[in-house]
Amino acid sequence: MTKQKEKMNQPGLLLTFEGIDGSGKSTQATMLFHRLLKEGYNALLVREPGGTSISEKIRDVLLDIKHQNMADTTELLLYAASRAQLVAEKIKPHIDDGVIVLCDRYTDSSLAYQGYGRGLNTEFIKNLNALATQETIPDLTFVIDVDLATAAKRASVDDPDRMESEKNAFKKRVQNGYHAIAEQEPARVVLIPGEEEVDALHEKIWELTIPKLELLKTSKDQ
Ligand code: TYD
Repeated sequence: MTKQKEKMNQPGLLLTFEGIDGSGKSTQATMLFHRLLKEGYNALLVREPGGTSISEKIRDVLLDIKHQNMADTTELLLYAASRAQLVAEKIKPHIDDGVIVLCDRYTDSSLAYQGYGRGLNTEFIKNLNALATQETIPDLTFVIDVDLATAAKRASVDDPDRMESEKNAFKKRVQNGYHAIAEQEPARVVLIPGEEEVDALHEKIWELTIPKLELLKTSKDQ
């Protein structure tokens, strides 16, 4: 099936934001969301894990600092469960309605954190992601890439959650994972150097989004 044909069956768009904790991706997702609204597009911003009442409860279990004994497989399955609910309840229905859905973290987070970070089998995670998302693949994924020192400064919080309290070696593996994903899927995943000033970064992201908006118009015209 060609991309154009896929688009005819999928009227909206899915744009995802990825990166290590403190990369600044949430700021960029919010900025793009407001830009799209300002330009008159119908857009929705959601985050993972979370975004629905069931998924937010799963999020609480996942990020609870007391849950230090969580098995890696439990962690993987809970992220997938949270994602499955968000896709079924919000992401897919909105895309089907022609909305531009922006998701702050998505399938690549599981690949980077649970696959490259925890060392779980990446092929299995890809299959699990396909199941959880009903094979809903992002049209474009921005990986905001910053070094660990910058991320630590940006993410500095008084009470880190379970994932934020992970060691630097884990974060480095996650970052390498994102680099590997970007290399493997250059047509979908763009690695954006994130050290730049937020407005400049936003302009770069906007420029990369414009061609996808054209695709949206084309598919609507058909
Ligand atoms: P959150 O506080 O939302 O972090 P951020 O603001 O950086 O997105 O917490 C989400 C945490 O969950 C983050 O540390 C990354 C992790 N995560 C995974 O490990 N796997 C996943 O599939 C997802 C979606 C998130």
